[in-house]
Amino acid sequence: MNLLAISSSQSTQSSVSSGLVNHFVETYSALSGSGTVVRNDIGETPPPHVDGVFNQAIFTPADQLSTDQKQSLVQSDQYIAELQAADVIVIGAPMHNFSISSPLKTWIDHVVRAGQTFSYGENGPQGLLSDKKVFVLTARGGDYSEGGFMHAMDHQEPYLRFVLGFIGLDDVTFVHAQGLAMGDEAREQAISKAQTDIESHVAALSPESTSVAA
Ligand SMILES: Cc1cc2nc3c(=O)[nH]c(=O)nc-3n(C[C@H](O)[C@H](O)[C@H](O)COP(=O)(O)O)c2cc1C
Repeated sequence: MNLLAISSSQSTQSSVSSGLVNHFVETYSALSGSGTVVRNDIGETPPPHVDGVFNQAIFTPADQLSTDQKQSLVQSDQYIAELQAADVIVIGAPMHNFSISSPLKTWIDHVVRAGQTFSYGENGPQGLLSDKKVFVLTARGGDYSEGGFMHAMDHQEPYLRFVLGFIGLDDVTFVHAQGLAMGDEAREQAISKAQTDIESHVAALSPESTSVAA
């Protein structure tokens, strides 16, 4: 059982979403024994922005790639290999400007690749990743709960649901720590609730999932 844990906050020391990723990994590791965990902190070590060479390379057949084009795909190939090897993927996602942090957007630019993670067929696009559980742990200053006046401003969950589904990751559970900027008490409660939710989700991972590694 392989867990891939991605953190994407640049605020590495004080990040709530990265703290929740840590909580997920610790809870998961305690339950699954020897399961492998790959950690990737793209907030601390951001992916390079994709550039013109990369944009050409992803549409060039492998046997026709120039040396520069091959080099431009190295990081992308590694991220995609991590995704392919994972059974469970946890993503820490700070809300920035109603959406995601720039490292997470850049990571998405690296992993959404025709022929690698999606293809176009007769019935339109098809995701090529499958059989993976994804947990997205968000941290938000405001409260975007359903029914609240800010709900319509949430471009984070809808976007992530869509783009992850586009590459075949359609089993996605969100845990939100929100209202973090609404006072100390609200902040503590939000973090504590998110931690409890994470513990429930980890405990509910199927016995088959964890017994392989146990
Ligand atoms: C650049 C930036 C943009 C932000 N934009 C939003 C926003 O649009 N909505 C919101 O509710 N909070 C926003 N916040 C607050 C963050 O969501 C909040 O601080 C959260 O804890 C960030 O996650 P992190 O602690 O994992 O870094 C923003 C914070 C920063 C630094």
